Amino acid sequence: MSRERYAAVIGWGMAVPSRVITNDELAQRIDTSDEWIRTRTGIRERRVASPGESTSTFATAAGREALAMAGVDATTIDTVIVATCTPDRPFPATACTVQANLNIPRATAFDLAAACSGFVYGLTVATSLIKSGVSRRLLLIGADIFTHYINWDDRNTCVLFGDGAGAVVLEATDQPFGLIASNLSADGNLEDLMAVDAGGTRMPLTAELLAEGRQYVYMNGREIFKHAVREMSDSAMQVVQAAGLTIDDIALVIPHQANVRIIDAVARRLEIPPERVMINLDRYGNTSAASIPIALYEAAQQGRIGSGDYVLVTAFGGGLTWGSGVVRWGRPAQ
Ligand code: UT7
Repeated sequence: MSRERYAAVIGWGMAVPSRVITNDELAQRIDTSDEWIRTRTGIRERRVASPGESTSTFATAAGREALAMAGVDATTIDTVIVATCTPDRPFPATACTVQANLNIPRATAFDLAAACSGFVYGLTVATSLIKSGVSRRLLLIGADIFTHYINWDDRNTCVLFGDGAGAVVLEATDQPFGLIASNLSADGNLEDLMAVDAGGTRMPLTAELLAEGRQYVYMNGREIFKHAVREMSDSAMQVVQAAGLTIDDIALVIPHQANVRIIDAVARRLEIPPERVMINLDRYGNTSAASIPIALYEAAQQGRIGSGDYVLVTAFGGGLTWGSGVVRWGRPAQ
């Protein structure tokens, strides 16, 4: 009889641009203030990519660190997934660029587009590939450079986003580690709550569209806020139950880092105390698909999660997409 397969997290890495933009710097350009941004979002500063830096720049660096921490050779990775909605180019996949940069030979490589939910979607897809025997050792990266789509004169969006990448190495094991339950959802009827309209096949870029600013991200923040709180908390509660656990078993919740008020509202609904909720958006803003793996990385480095702990990840984003997962952190003793 074949034994059940799991996908343990055996290494993690992160990378962010060195350039920091503070709230005060933004307030010099547009009609906003450090006070408004801090109290309405929790964000104090964000990292912003420089010209010449692309999504693969940070995805590669995060991936390299995750491989080093896992102590595995790049040649043993059979699959590379980059969760991103801001790829280097429309095609080929940024995952192929990362594969080449890291000298990973002949892997399966593809991008996964689920906006800010990309890492939770990616974790589910990656774990399924390992469980089914398609993959044995896989590099999953969440990476986005949202600021390249930002209109720096639009205060509704420019104060919220930052850039970066986070990565994990997953490895097949017969011990119950890694993602043990997850659920994913989307509601395409809400696709226009947040989008970049121009530059795709529906609306190829023209000089007129550029002049109208249709290459920039727009969103209905207030509407997204309401959906985010409801969908994240509902899916988080469901996934904890599906894992056969209760909230008391969760060592740390790692929510998508979009707005501290959204995170607080979700934590209240889950009835989990603030000390068991990870928040680092004050330093990075919303880094989209990178936000959960960056927060996982920092939580692990700070000793807030250790091997065998149950971690609850939950995210929402453009699409709308959302989803949650319970991860048993770390790797089995060898
Ligand atoms: O990963 C998914 C990405 N999307 C999101 O995370 C969006 C989720 N939504 C949010 O985080 C919040 O809705 C925002 C932070 C975007 C906005 O906060 P809010 O409390 O929902 O504010 P609001 O949109 O209701 O706006 C309140 C006021 C408005 O002024 P009036 O109409 O009341 O006079 C805005 O014009 O705040 C104004 N405002 C600002 N003021 C100073 C909006 N942005 C700014 C700003 N600085 N940057």
